[in-house]
Amino acid sequence: MICSSLTSIAVIALAGLAQGAPTSNLRSWEEAYAKAEQVVDQMSLEQKVGLTTGIGWEKTLCVGNVHGTEDPYFPSLCLQDGPLGTRFASNNTAGVSGINAAATFDRDLMYRRAEIIGNESRGKGVHIQLGPSVDLIRAPHGGRGWEAFGEDPYLQGVGGYEFVKGVQSQNVIATAKHYILNNQEINRTTSNSVVDERTLREIYVWPYARMVEAGLGSVMCSYNLYEDIYACENDYLLNTVLKEELSFKGFVMSDWGATHSTAPSVNAGLDMTMPGDIIMGDGLSWFGPNLTKAVEDGDVSEERVTDMAMRIAAAHFKVGQDKDFPETSLVSFDRKSEPEVIVTSDEHIKFVRDIGAASVVLLANDGILPVSSDDLQKIAIVGSDAAAPSEHGGLNEVECTDMACNDGTYVMGWGSGSVDFPYIISPTEGITNRAGDSVEVVHTYDDWDTEAAAELASDADIAFVFAKTEAGEEYLMVDGNNDRKNLTLWNNGDNLIQAVADANENTVVVIHSPGPILMPWIDHENIKAVVWPGLPGQETGNSLADVLFGDVNPSGRLPYTIAKKEEDYGAHISTEYNIEYSEKLNIGYRHFDANDIEPLFAFGYGLSYSTFDYGKLKVNTKRGKRDTLATATVFVRNTGDVDGAEVAQAYISFPESAGEPPKVLRGFERVYLKAGQQRKVTFEFTETDLSIYDEESSCWVVPEGEYTVSIGASSRDIRESATFDL
Ligand SMILES: *[C@@H]1O[C@H](CO)[C@@H](O)[C@H](O)[C@H]1NC(C)=O
Ligand SMILES: *[C@@H]1O[C@H](CO)[C@@H](O)[C@H](O)[C@H]1NC(C)=O
Ligand SMILES: *[C@@H]1O[C@H](CO)[C@@H](O)[C@H](O)[C@H]1NC(C)=O
Ligand SMILES: *[C@@H]1O[C@H](CO)[C@@H](O)[C@H](O)[C@H]1NC(C)=O
Ligand SMILES: *[C@@H]1O[C@H](CO)[C@@H](O)[C@H](O)[C@H]1NC(C)=O
Repeated sequence: MICSSLTSIAVIALAGLAQGAPTSNLRSWEEAYAKAEQVVDQMSLEQKVGLTTGIGWEKTLCVGNVHGTEDPYFPSLCLQDGPLGTRFASNNTAGVSGINAAATFDRDLMYRRAEIIGNESRGKGVHIQLGPSVDLIRAPHGGRGWEAFGEDPYLQGVGGYEFVKGVQSQNVIATAKHYILNNQEINRTTSNSVVDERTLREIYVWPYARMVEAGLGSVMCSYNLYEDIYACENDYLLNTVLKEELSFKGFVMSDWGATHSTAPSVNAGLDMTMPGDIIMGDGLSWFGPNLTKAVEDGDVSEERVTDMAMRIAAAHFKVGQDKDFPETSLVSFDRKSEPEVIVTSDEHIKFVRDIGAASVVLLANDGILPVSSDDLQKIAIVGSDAAAPSEHGGLNEVECTDMACNDGTYVMGWGSGSVDFPYIISPTEGITNRAGDSVEVVHTYDDWDTEAAAELASDADIAFVFAKTEAGEEYLMVDGNNDRKNLTLWNNGDNLIQAVADANENTVVVIHSPGPILMPWIDHENIKAVVWPGLPGQETGNSLADVLFGDVNPSGRLPYTIAKKEEDYGAHISTEYNIEYSEKLNIGYRHFDANDIEPLFAFGYGLSYSTFDYGKLKVNTKRGKRDTLATATVFVRNTGDVDGAEVAQAYISFPESAGEPPKVLRGFERVYLKAGQQRKVTFEFTETDLSIYDEESSCWVVPEGEYTVSIGASSRDIRESATFDL
């Protein structure tokens, strides 16, 4: 047995990163700490405390600002939501949600998305971007799963890593959240997440470890409790796990209103209180004068306050905000006086359209897709989810707070993770534009008049029927949902689909949903395709049309499992004080594998207009570069007649003695192949990839024995496998 801590694994990866081409002004932590020391050394206790204390809710330009100092100079850092763009901003881009980034299974697209988010944040003068979210989808109903990267920790880790790299390349500090075990909205401030140490690390800490490797600047602790102690005053979570085990060098901020004490929080590792108030808007604070007094009373050491200020200042210098950083131009709480600072661009909009198309998951297709205008005279579009939201129901931020009253097509969830839309290209608009003048497009947006829908659809060459479900953050409630209260479609969706399918034998179903739904109509003989575009943002209609008309060959893959029935899932929303993570390591598809349950659509699944073959898998355990313990190569060939991308996925089965789920994702590669083309795909499995957390020794170990690597097109479509011994 090799016994290594995750810390040493993190350090190895960091050493590798230093060789990469740094973006302008970026510094190593060593250099950043040296710069920070020059400033913080000159600060009084009050000034240091100021750096750690939010000025108060709705008192500043951003959703949070900490105090700056004049002499020595240090700016008042601006903190702004959220994980998909800049909240409370105009002239911005409203791009795809995190869950769509995950559905691309493409590192480069994930990075580029984050780079654009970073670029726009910087353009508005945001120092600290409040993303990424890496809250895993445990229960499929979870209200905020769409902000993050799905049900698998490895995928979350890659999504988080690329987000941090991309945002921080633009001199903006990324914030990983919500640390930790914050996987449902109901009772999020009063519940206690109960999980064993191994599951805590292998599933929930894992993404944070990857983000620390990426140079992560800040972490937001969550509202919930762990071991009956609030996450933001939890010495074990903050000091022991995050700062000691992971060697996290940045700072920890509270979620908004998640601080509950002065000395206990500070001594447990909390470095910044947000937005500063005790109760949001009260103007009081657990930090500020209370923290100064705690030092004077000897409850907190001044050294610790210096450490807090150093961590905050170091993150600022690490991402290079000390040179040419724009003035903050947001006016979050008085939008009418916001200056016109244009951060969007044609390039950003083009990217949103492209990643929107790349994240469309084609769930079913009997060959009806792609369509061609040459073969069509009349297209019927049915369902309010195909319509642009009305001015009062989605686009007007005054009347419709944070996207919680969207009456049209579903493009992003609601809550602090939403941004304002400059415009929305609706599905109807996208399809109509692409279909061209030779095709008649008719529509009805009345979800309740199924007779009218059936009649409209009956004489069209093809009928697209749209339906949705929605979810969002706790402070807003829509028809009894933040976490979804059920997995059925909203607005009469199932009946609408049934009625259209009964009336038209070329029915294509399009679902916008933050997560899995139930599909009672899936076996209807007239339903010829099912399309799953996720939450695509402002270019939704164009992205969709690109796929429907075959301009883009779909390659999106499900970042979560869609089950046949609700009871099949391994975790559900709990309303108890103790939320028992009793599925342990068997989150998501691992539960379906471990219990031999056939999903409706498996994790990693998605169709293409082409077909792909896999062959000649070879594995060797000769040590590769750095800490690689095994390497697998496989040939993937496009055997169809359409160019397109395939997402090859690598799953590892550990030696039986390791007590792991049947298989776990440990690699993926989206490869673009022209028709007939073949390419070799290489997967490297590092010590980290092949380690488990051993509770007895409290360290990460690589179990000895026989491993299986399974390569395939989804978690349930394994094409090649091979074994190796370690
Ligand atoms: C910037 O945003 C404002 C507010 O939404 C809008 O009125 C204005 O037209 C935008 N400017 C441009 C150039 O799009
Ligand atoms: C954003 O990116 C564009 C294009 O690369 C660049 O011209 C612009 O300066 C960037 N904005 C900021 C604020 O860095
Ligand atoms: C300090 O904290 C106490 C709670 O212990 C609170 O009542 C008081 O208002 C705080 N002081 C300031 C100045 O915020
Ligand atoms: C599920 O929730 C939606 C949205 O709140 C609601 O409209 C629908 O009636 C619910 N379905 C069932 C079967 O309870
Ligand atoms: C959780 O929420 C439910 C309903 O929203 C409520 O009845 C219950 O008391 C809450 N439990 C806790 C521990 O807050």
